[in-house]
Amino acid sequence: MSTPTTRLLTVEGAADTRTHVPLLERYRQRLPFAPGDPLVTLQEGSTPLLRAPVLSELVGATVRLKLEGANPTGSFKDRGMTCAVSAAVREGAKAVICASTGNTAASAAAYAARAGITCAVIVPEGRIAQGKMAQTLVHGARVIELKGNFDRALELVRELTGAHPIVLVNSVNEFRIEGQKTAAFEIHEALEGSLEALCIPVGNAGNITSYWRGFRELGAAPRLWGFQAEGAAPLVLGKIVEQPETVASAIRIGNPVRWEDAMAAATDSRGSIRPVSDQEILAAFRLLASKEGMFCEPASAASVAGLLKYGADAAEQVVCVLTGRGLKDPETAIANNDGRVIPCAAEIGAIEEAVLGDP
Ligand code: F0G
Repeated sequence: MSTPTTRLLTVEGAADTRTHVPLLERYRQRLPFAPGDPLVTLQEGSTPLLRAPVLSELVGATVRLKLEGANPTGSFKDRGMTCAVSAAVREGAKAVICASTGNTAASAAAYAARAGITCAVIVPEGRIAQGKMAQTLVHGARVIELKGNFDRALELVRELTGAHPIVLVNSVNEFRIEGQKTAAFEIHEALEGSLEALCIPVGNAGNITSYWRGFRELGAAPRLWGFQAEGAAPLVLGKIVEQPETVASAIRIGNPVRWEDAMAAATDSRGSIRPVSDQEILAAFRLLASKEGMFCEPASAASVAGLLKYGADAAEQVVCVLTGRGLKDPETAIANNDGRVIPCAAEIGAIEEAVLGDP
């Protein structure tokens, strides 16, 4: 049996696989890690930047999709988690914890498993998508369902980590922001600095904060257009939403922890944080899947919903961040599509009718 320490990849060990360089290695110069520090990686980052011809046509700009669902656990959270868990291990931590609408939980659980440390997650009862719950459980995290919403879960977990030696890996953790800023580096490199506007969903507001930090470090300043779901839009309203509600469960958040940072990112970039309705989110979600071939989760589609709603405002190079993949939330996908399943008897006539008959 190997001990947790020997199971950790060192930076040198990670270099054995040259097919994909972990972001912590790719951007080490710009991250708070030194050679030889423990590296807990699942080979995250370096995600595709895909052209979106249909969207481009619709808004009259060159639109690309940053496919963050291509990260190992299927969301952008892995960028922050490789850093947060590597730092926790460096400090000798034996356990990590987070409050989550699902993706942070899945990511924390995976990286903790990789590191051989324990993980607990607090999720709002009955309110996280099934794929995320499956991931979190299978990675062996302790899943605690709170009779309360995400904001309350985060309050409690902050109080708990103030009193116990468990590392908090929500985006209050600076290492999360540091790791997530690398997505801005990748886009900047891929577009050779020509990006003019970035569309991004906003929940707890860690990611928009990270992107702005990343762009600033490179001296770039695209406009950041953050989008919140109408029923969970505290940054748009300028006040806490006590009972946030939206179909996009990942961003069902009423009191974002990175509130000031997100507002500063929007203002300093000459951008904005604006609302999109659930209907607009679901329309964008279906359009992405049926016209661009890209299945993301509903929260991710908020970035595209916002672009479609408010337009490209003369920006020619636009990127929409698709934060998580569609399989995270099969229930919502099955309930919101234009397709139908055709029952069929097991004989040729019935098959012919099913395949070739009028739809
Ligand atoms: N998109 C997805 C798929 C998310 O899971 C989240 C946040 C966001 C967008 C918003 O990012 O919070 O940095 O503004 N999910 C968190 C979680 C809250 O617990 O998984 P943010």
